[in-house]
Amino acid sequence: GREVTVLAFCDGKTLLPMPASQDHKKAFDGDKGANTGGMGAFAPTPYFLEQDKNEFLQNIALPTLKGLEKDGIVFKGVLYFGLMKTSGGLKVVEYNARFGDPETQVVLPLLEGDLLHIMQSCTDGTLAQQEVKFSDGAAACVILASGGYPVAYEKGKPISGLVDGQLPDEENVTVYHSGTAITEDGQLVTNGGRVLGVTATGPRLTNALSHAYEAAEKISFEKLHKRSDIGLRALKALAEKQ
Ligand code: GLY
Repeated sequence: GREVTVLAFCDGKTLLPMPASQDHKKAFDGDKGANTGGMGAFAPTPYFLEQDKNEFLQNIALPTLKGLEKDGIVFKGVLYFGLMKTSGGLKVVEYNARFGDPETQVVLPLLEGDLLHIMQSCTDGTLAQQEVKFSDGAAACVILASGGYPVAYEKGKPISGLVDGQLPDEENVTVYHSGTAITEDGQLVTNGGRVLGVTATGPRLTNALSHAYEAAEKISFEKLHKRSDIGLRALKALAEKQ
């Protein structure tokens, strides 16, 4: 089936899902190669329809809250639901008690309003009264990884194209740093397998994806590896629907 990630704010009583997103876990195009921490993501995913959201709320979110309550756990924070859409309905593949990466890099840019206030309402137990709104645009993130990741890769490669860690002259683009370091002489270098996440937002998925890829082209380091098909299947599915 199709993998879908739903992150949800939770104050122990109320659970508010954020727009559903999709990670790309395999290292290479066409979902080939080893599993990684995630090579790119987009939100919202067209594979999570209104009926899926209802099914999620009834069959997964509510029972999760009840199960937590039964175990005496008052969970305050963000719950990560890794879901699979199967012919037998939505199934939970994994739970995490945290935001997910790189899904968060495409979900939070769509949040309208202040994350701090929402997180405060999670800790205060007032999430039901909190207004939580997301834009109806889309976001896409392309991960720039070190060649050889997730098996064997080198670190310390100088990164070019960024000024103060961001792409100058780019609107609606944010570069997230996951595996970078600054040397003693001030040079930004690679320092991990997944190095940077380039996120762009746009009115529709197609705009967000093309902008993220255009922006990613402006960044370079030796042996940079990125997937070239983030969101492609979803775009094709959307085109077929029209
Ligand atoms: N994207 C997978 C995770 O955050 O666990």
